[in-house]
Amino acid sequence: MKEIVFYFSGTGNSLSVAKALADGMPVNMAAAKPSEFTADSIGFVYPSYCGEPPAPVTKFIKESTFVCPYLWAVVTCGGAQANALGRVSRLLKEKGQTLSYGQDILLPDSVIIFRTPEALQKEWLSAQAQKVAEIKARIAERAVNEVPYYKGYKLITNLTWFGMKVLLGMGNKRSTKKCIRCTQCVKLCPTGNIKIKDGRAVFGQDCCYCFSCIQHCPNNAIRFGFVKRSDKSRYTHPDILAKELIRMNKKEI
Ligand SMILES: Cc1cc2nc3c(=O)[nH]c(=O)nc-3n(C[C@H](O)[C@H](O)[C@H](O)COP(=O)(O)O)c2cc1C
Ligand code: SF4
Ligand code: SF4
Repeated sequence: MKEIVFYFSGTGNSLSVAKALADGMPVNMAAAKPSEFTADSIGFVYPSYCGEPPAPVTKFIKESTFVCPYLWAVVTCGGAQANALGRVSRLLKEKGQTLSYGQDILLPDSVIIFRTPEALQKEWLSAQAQKVAEIKARIAERAVNEVPYYKGYKLITNLTWFGMKVLLGMGNKRSTKKCIRCTQCVKLCPTGNIKIKDGRAVFGQDCCYCFSCIQHCPNNAIRFGFVKRSDKSRYTHPDILAKELIRMNKKEI
């Protein structure tokens, strides 16, 4: 029985879930080449970004072919997955395939403009193993459910991106004098959007807003627009270190 679990993760939540759902190591959609994949079960684990899948997930699924009788998806989210499952269901439908099972799981918010309250973070993280075990059992028994697509949510998605990129100025990304040129953000970035130039980290235009660079920077030296986070208020999943995300960024199948 062959199974493949694909994942995308900025701050470790989805990687942590994907590792628990996969029998072997999950495959990073930001590092794997789109191709034809054949298996008895293929799963996708990724976060919801403004109610949609992250751009690298959409691209990978669009450009790949999945020869598989059972496709499933699990979305990690800080409140409401909205259309993150529904979009993948639609993408697969366009290829003549069916997303048989979709499930969301609440985990602390990775976006730098919100912070899941400490007590809720603890509650969700301590419930994670049990919830993932239940999802794994449902996948093993080949559960099927209806994944909804909320048409009206597209407007909220577009307004949220506009608010982040334009009103909060997050299109303007920079490193401050605190940058120690450690290159961690360069290695973490799933889209290869960061370089070290003139003694500092500099950002290009190919950002999917995973916030991995900001949340992990050892010196809190990255600013997106007007948003500033204190050292204490940043979040990354406690079981997933930056070095694991970096190692997985290089992994190809
Ligand atoms: C740009 C961005 C947008 C987000 N939008 C949503 C959202 O619309 N709904 C939600 O519930 N969580 C949202 N989140 C929170 C993430 O989905 C959640 O924290 C997820 O578990 C992060 O997964 P990761 O650690 O694997 O990157 C957003 C996070 C980011 C970075
Ligand atoms: S992770 Fe932070 S300190 Fe290291 S190179 Fe990037 S911006 Fe500079
Ligand atoms: S620049 Fe930062 S937020 Fe943008 S894709 Fe790279 S790591 Fe993620």
